[in-house]
Amino acid sequence: MTIQDYTAKQLKTVIEDKTVEEIKRLLEIPPNRSMGDLAFPCFILAKQWRKSPVHIAKELEEKLGGSEAFDTIKAEGPYLNVFLPKKTVTTEVINEVLSKGSNYGNAPVQDKGSVPMDLSSPNIAKPFSMGHLRSTVIGNAIANLAEKNGYSPVRINHLGDWGTQFGKLMTAYEKWGDEQAVKQSPIKELNALYVEFHEKAKEDPSLDDEGRAWFKKLEDGDVEATKLWKWFRDESLKEFQKIYDLLGVSFDSYHGESFYNDKMQAVADELIEKKLLVESEGAMVVDLSDFDLPPALIKKKDGASLYATRDLAAAHYRKNTYDFVESLYIVGHEQSLHFEQVKKVLLKLGYEWADDMKHIPFGMILQDGKKMSTRKGKTVLLEEVLKQTIERAKENIETKNPSLENKEAVAEMVGVGAVIFNDLRQSRLNDVEFDIEQMLRFEGETGPYIQYTYARACTLLDKGEWKDMNGHGAPYNVEEPYLWDLVLTLEKFPGVIERAYKEYEPSILSRYLIELARYFNQYYGKVRILSGTAEEQSGRLHLVKVVTVVLEEGLRLLGIKAPEKM
Ligand code: ARG
Repeated sequence: MTIQDYTAKQLKTVIEDKTVEEIKRLLEIPPNRSMGDLAFPCFILAKQWRKSPVHIAKELEEKLGGSEAFDTIKAEGPYLNVFLPKKTVTTEVINEVLSKGSNYGNAPVQDKGSVPMDLSSPNIAKPFSMGHLRSTVIGNAIANLAEKNGYSPVRINHLGDWGTQFGKLMTAYEKWGDEQAVKQSPIKELNALYVEFHEKAKEDPSLDDEGRAWFKKLEDGDVEATKLWKWFRDESLKEFQKIYDLLGVSFDSYHGESFYNDKMQAVADELIEKKLLVESEGAMVVDLSDFDLPPALIKKKDGASLYATRDLAAAHYRKNTYDFVESLYIVGHEQSLHFEQVKKVLLKLGYEWADDMKHIPFGMILQDGKKMSTRKGKTVLLEEVLKQTIERAKENIETKNPSLENKEAVAEMVGVGAVIFNDLRQSRLNDVEFDIEQMLRFEGETGPYIQYTYARACTLLDKGEWKDMNGHGAPYNVEEPYLWDLVLTLEKFPGVIERAYKEYEPSILSRYLIELARYFNQYYGKVRILSGTAEEQSGRLHLVKVVTVVLEEGLRLLGIKAPEKM
């Protein structure tokens, strides 16, 4: 039961003409905690009760005055302010977290259905971009939140592994490629070949024809073309895998665009059958003018399929395979129009489930205020960026805590955690500044700040030899500074989890973790936890334990590891 549920239930005894649900929705949090934990605005009753709100507040105060349900009840102008029973709430919240452990905050109803999520989805033979990093990190957090909320997420890496560019790449490789070089550094080498192709094709347009011919061979299942394509794909995946290993992200499916090669004709056939496919400048399109959108391109002049065609086939496949309750696409906002078009084509075909497809867009990663690119000039690979961050984290550890065990492992958790948290700390639609020094700081809104708070709390538990006593015999001194703030914050966790998923907004959780860490550090700064009687210590350690449980679980949901020492 949340504090809102509790308060509404008590107020219901004196406000009979409103339901508990209605009362709950009306409750407010006072601007200042010294005024009360929650407030009920009495204006709402004035008309029906034919009394002034000030009068009603006073009346309710008198009626509830002697009740043990609250520590204090106070009318303040038109508001009824309540102070919750601190002792009871504190004990209940701490016991609940202790008994549930990492399951604290799980939705009461599970089995809510499957939710395929299209995330990461880099392009084969090209560098893994900052946009793909954001998709991976945000998508993974949303998938974790989905699971916590009772859904079954299916993480799909919709690889960009099909299209005319592979014909070009094969042409370039056949002409100028070097097998050893590709094996050594696949992305760098293949990308260089691709760039070379474009430069030379400017002078020699016949190269483009060759490229098209190669792609045609690939689409027709030619053995040699398929072998080359598969090799490029495998080598690229090996390289991407290094990034996924560092980030700790895994996928349930690697069905990329190529998987739909044999499923696209059916899409075109259905569009023809329902008379939706029309010719426009030689290409085949679906007119979307009734939605005020530009036409969706289904087939090129030369018969080759397009990005949208593959997404239409993929949408069908996902509906048939997973029978989803909703289907998410975590892709940068520059593709909004594309997803809008795909959805509208499906709606025109009569598939109402297309309304359950949701594009979850996000902003860019910037460096010094400009779009950060992993491909401009000489290729900088994301793996190298991550390695650099880990290296910097290690240097920080060397100066701050040189005797730490497992320095390498901790540096990786901190370096990677810093990158992930930096990405998730603001609303996903905002652009993010990529500043390694800033994101690695131990103070401020950073991943390391939360990890450090967690490690500090773990050290206390260790030193104080914390033991779970099943909640028995832990007296809490509810007047300790910041204890009540901590308890109220801990109590909010399940609501935060619910909202973060509903809005597909991991930043709701990351901001929450900052708040919790701040209160904990304030508590830690004011209260000497390992002092006083054994009983007093045990009570405080219970609180510390509960903070570690919620911090660790919160970080896990964001995709960040929590080191016990750092
Ligand atoms: N590979 C694409 C890109 O890098 C992203 C794919 C997104 N998913 C999709 N179903 N279209 O731009």
